Amino acid sequence: MESAIRFHVDLIFEKEIERLPWHIPLAEWEEHGVRTLEIKRGISRHVVIFVKSGRFSFGIKEIGEKISKKEISHYEQLLLRGIHTLVPVGYVVREEEPIPLQTPIGVQYEENNTSHTITLLVEKVIPDSVLYRRGFSTENRERIWDAVAALLAELHSKGVYWGDASLANTLIRFENINVPFVGRRTELKAYLADAETIEFQPEISESLREAELNFFFESMDWINGDLRAAGVPRDELSTEEDKEYLRHRYHQLFGLEQKKRSFELQTSYNIDRFMGSIADPSYADLLLKHIEEHKWYVSELAHKEISLSDAAHDWYENIFVPLCAMFRSEGVLEYFPGKTAAEMYVEIMTNKYFLSEKSGKDVGMERTMRDYMKRFGAAPTFAGVLKSASRKMKTILDGKK
Ligand SMILES: Nc1ncnc2c1ncn2[C@@H]1O[C@H](COP(=O)(O)OP(=O)(O)O)[C@@H](O)[C@H]1O
Ligand SMILES: [Mg+2]
Repeated sequence: MESAIRFHVDLIFEKEIERLPWHIPLAEWEEHGVRTLEIKRGISRHVVIFVKSGRFSFGIKEIGEKISKKEISHYEQLLLRGIHTLVPVGYVVREEEPIPLQTPIGVQYEENNTSHTITLLVEKVIPDSVLYRRGFSTENRERIWDAVAALLAELHSKGVYWGDASLANTLIRFENINVPFVGRRTELKAYLADAETIEFQPEISESLREAELNFFFESMDWINGDLRAAGVPRDELSTEEDKEYLRHRYHQLFGLEQKKRSFELQTSYNIDRFMGSIADPSYADLLLKHIEEHKWYVSELAHKEISLSDAAHDWYENIFVPLCAMFRSEGVLEYFPGKTAAEMYVEIMTNKYFLSEKSGKDVGMERTMRDYMKRFGAAPTFAGVLKSASRKMKTILDGKK
């Protein structure tokens, strides 16, 4: 009997999905002439293949109907929360004859459908053998743990418990990120791949967060064994040092996520999206302090209390944006590669504050900038842009007076 096929697929992909041979098991697709793609993947329980069909390439996992439906909905919800994960295409069910089961109350039928979780293929993933190859510098290895820590911290602070956090379920690749006011930058990012076990909760308890982290540490031990068995020459990946680093970064970044959340609740500004990321959690406090000062100032002017979020809007439009646009047009940003506009703003303003405190008077923009430049070892040619940039900064900052 030809089994019935049911499609639950996003319209955009319908044509490419419908022409695949869903009436046969995934493991046999290749024999039936489907060209599968050789893609590095994590260890998995289920049959997973990658295929190109028309304009798209997909990752397809064979699995039960209920789970595939749930997994696709998990991916949708993760994306809505802005989490770095696979893009869901949908699920396709092959209906089979139910299995008759003899029970004391007569014959019962057990559902026997086969389903498939389909996601868009993520390409250019860095394979494990490269990620953890022998002689990998500590610096490079730490960038990998940074990416993993960022993913875990983001999940937990957004009320997501993964339940299967492991290296095998994490894809790592270089991504082109848009940094506000700076432009595009390449960053190592970790993707959540495998969303079967995910749970959404209003808040993830500390004990669950710890459990998830410890589970991930175990997965680092497994991969040692896997790679050794595969004959890949490499250093130990799960040294105590690695774990300690990952734990430290996770806690740091989780703290940062909390700060950013609270900042957004109070000001309605998302720091990453509107100002650029910050590596140091205390920068969120400093930005908030500036906005609070600005609120005091605009309230004085208006002879009435201005709300913090209105003050934040005024500060952003009239101070932050013009300053950052000027950093860019005057070429100041080029002297501080790797810094975001938010970081430069905080550092320059803090520098001005401390210098002024020390000398008991407002030191002005030019001295602030010269000092900042010296401290970060910016090229001497910076002197050229110093005068003009400082003058423009002063105009913007004085604009409110
Ligand atoms: N769309 C995709 N793009 C790239 N890699 C994928 C994709 N889907 C799955 N993978 C890889 O295949 C692995 C196995 O899939 P997964 O959902 O984890 O199966 P299992 O539930 O059996 O563990 C993943 O961990 C990931 O490495
Ligand atoms: Mg998996």
